[in-house]
Order: sequence, then structure tokens, then C-alpha cells
Amino acid sequence: MKTLLFVDDETKVLQGLQRQLRHMRLEWNMHFIDGGQKALDFMAAQPVDIIVSDMMMPGMDGSQLLTEVVKRHPRTVRIILSGHAERESVLRLVGPAHQYLSKPCDADELRKAIGRAFGLRDLLGNERLKQLATRVKNLPTLPALQNKLTEELRKDSPSMERVAEIISRDIGMTAKILQLVNSAFFGLAQPISNPLDAVIYLGLNTVRALALSVGIFSQYEQKNCKLFSLDVLASHSWTTGVMSRSIAQQERMELKILEQCFLAGMLHDVGQLVLAFGLHDEYSEVLAKAKAENLQIWQVEQEAFGASHADVGAYLLALWGLPNPIIEAVAMHHQPSRCVAPEFSPTIAVHAADVFAHQCFAGNTEVPPPQLDLAYLTSLGFAERIETWQAGCKEELNN
Ligand SMILES: [Fe+2]
Ligand SMILES: [Fe+2]
Repeated sequence: MKTLLFVDDETKVLQGLQRQLRHMRLEWNMHFIDGGQKALDFMAAQPVDIIVSDMMMPGMDGSQLLTEVVKRHPRTVRIILSGHAERESVLRLVGPAHQYLSKPCDADELRKAIGRAFGLRDLLGNERLKQLATRVKNLPTLPALQNKLTEELRKDSPSMERVAEIISRDIGMTAKILQLVNSAFFGLAQPISNPLDAVIYLGLNTVRALALSVGIFSQYEQKNCKLFSLDVLASHSWTTGVMSRSIAQQERMELKILEQCFLAGMLHDVGQLVLAFGLHDEYSEVLAKAKAENLQIWQVEQEAFGASHADVGAYLLALWGLPNPIIEAVAMHHQPSRCVAPEFSPTIAVHAADVFAHQCFAGNTEVPPPQLDLAYLTSLGFAERIETWQAGCKEELNN
């Protein structure tokens, strides 16, 4: 049975939760504790799968508690349950919490968030990789882009478009801002996939606080693995995003799908970042082996870790609560035939765009380049579209 720990300084809130979730007690082993330090003591004695904590608590607050949990129990999924009045303080949790829910939270929403987090744990088979992804608070960002962003945000009247454009060129910043805006805390009716909408929704003050004072966009240190370059990955990802959006446009998809295609393309290789920064030496060996033996990187990763960067990336983004079509496209970008949808989807666009992007630029991190799954594209009737897609993508890139 999975173990859940609820932490809140108000006993009334804990009793309310206990009542709301009573009918789950045969499935979940639930504990209710009224303070941060007591929660840590409890966790030292017994492993906990998910911790759901209040934000404002006397003594140790939710942010401090979850920061401690990251260090001591990296496998535990961290959810914050916070009041609307505490909107500003939620920014401090962008690092340590995986998901944010707002109070009062109905039992259904809470059950969904918890059920989803549990479901996720089975997505990625490898315990070590799961721990690696669960521990990730921030992804490395490119210093040049971060400087540009700081410069723009310090202007008297920064441009929202310019800020969003800078963020959308960086994998780490894009993932983080979309994690925040899509969190249940902000209670959006429809998920947001467009960095510009995210910036507009959050507002420049929030983005400024995130970038300048909260420091969630962490600087990139060059002590990572050999054969891996964040610059190369960032430009490959951006190209894949632009091309993937262009393919959707050529298929006359609606705006929402175009935005999902860009975002999924931008984030499709985010798992490489997790592996390269989390397991640098081993990942260097994987990259070297793929190169020397002319094998697909994801296949060598599969052999070495029992999972590929596509699995790790999808797991991280799902943990961060990004929209489902994005997670699916990231998970299946090398093997789109695993996708059950019989029609056009961001998975197909990202799969094709990834291959086209590799053909456009040599020197990518994935060597040898990935191949198109022709059998699958043919089965869905897209085979004769490939050439047109590719030409359209190149044109789009040159614009
Ligand atoms: Fe990939
Ligand atoms: Fe790629």
C-alpha cells in the first residue's frame, strides 16, 4: 500500500482532509501530522511516497519542509496545498514542490493529483532514474539567455513578447514557467502550452521575482559530461519546436495544437539534460558508445539504464504537471508507433521534426541521427506528406 503524509499546522484542516479522504483508506496508508519537524521525524522512521504540505506554518514552513524532503528523501513526491492569499509565497515553492493545489481543495481534485502522482511512479521502471528525476528542482539554463532575460526585466518597461521569446529559447526556463502556470494553484480551466500566454498570465512582476530573486532559473555549470553540449541541445530543441509547429500548421491544425507542437518539440530531449547533469560520467560513456558503434542514443540508454531520455523526460514533465499531449509526445518521440491515437498528434509532429532538425544541423548530441518511422507514418496516411513537411519546415526556419 502507498503511504501518504499530510502536514498542516491547523488540526481542523487535517481533520477535514481525513474526513474527505476516508473512503480511500483501503487503498492508501494515510498519516496526518501537525508540524514540519514532526513530519521529518516521521519520515526518518518510515518511507513516504507522497507528502502533501500546507505552505504557511509557524516554525518550519512548507517551503523549508519540502526543501529538506528533497535532500533527505529524494524519492518522495512533493505536493503543496496552499491558500489563495499566499500567491506570492507560492513562488518560493517553484523549486521544491512538484505540484501545487489551492485551498480549499475538493476531495476529487486532491484524489486526482495524488492518483496521477502514483500512476507516474510506475511509468519509469528504473528506481535510480526515478530518484534522479524526482530530485530535480530546476534545470540548467544558458547563461547568455539568462543575462538577456535579466537585462530585459530590469528595463523600465519590459516587453512581454521579448521576455517570452527569451524564455522560449531555453529548455529549463520554458519547462519551469509552464510548470508554474499549469499548476492547480492557479486554477486554469484549460492548460497553457504557450510561453507568451504563461508570461501574460503570471504577469511581469511574478516573472521578475522568479528570474531575479527566487533564482529558479539555475545557472549552468560547465562541469557536466563530455560530448554533451547544452548550447547544441538548446538550438536543436528550438529548431525541433519551430519545425514541429510548422508541420501542424501545414496539416491545418488549430492554434492549441500548434502551441502544443512547439512546446513538445522544445522539451522533447529534456531527459538528456537530466541524465547529462545527474549522471555525467555514465552518460559520457553512453554518448561515446553510441558514437563509436553507430547506435541510436536512446537504445544505448535503454541498455545502460533500462530507460531512455524520452522516458526520463516524460516522467519529469508529468511530475511537474505539464499538459498530457506534451508528455506523450516527449515519451514517444523516438517510437511514435507506441502512440495509440489514429490521427495527427504532437507526437507525430515532434517525431518528424526531430529527424528533420538533425538533417539540418550536423554536430547534434544525438549521433547517429534518429530515423523516421516510415511504416507508422504510412499506416496513418502521412507518407506522401513527408517531403512537403520537410520543405515547409526549412522555409519556416529561414524566415
Ligand atoms: Fe531524443
Ligand atoms: Fe532530438
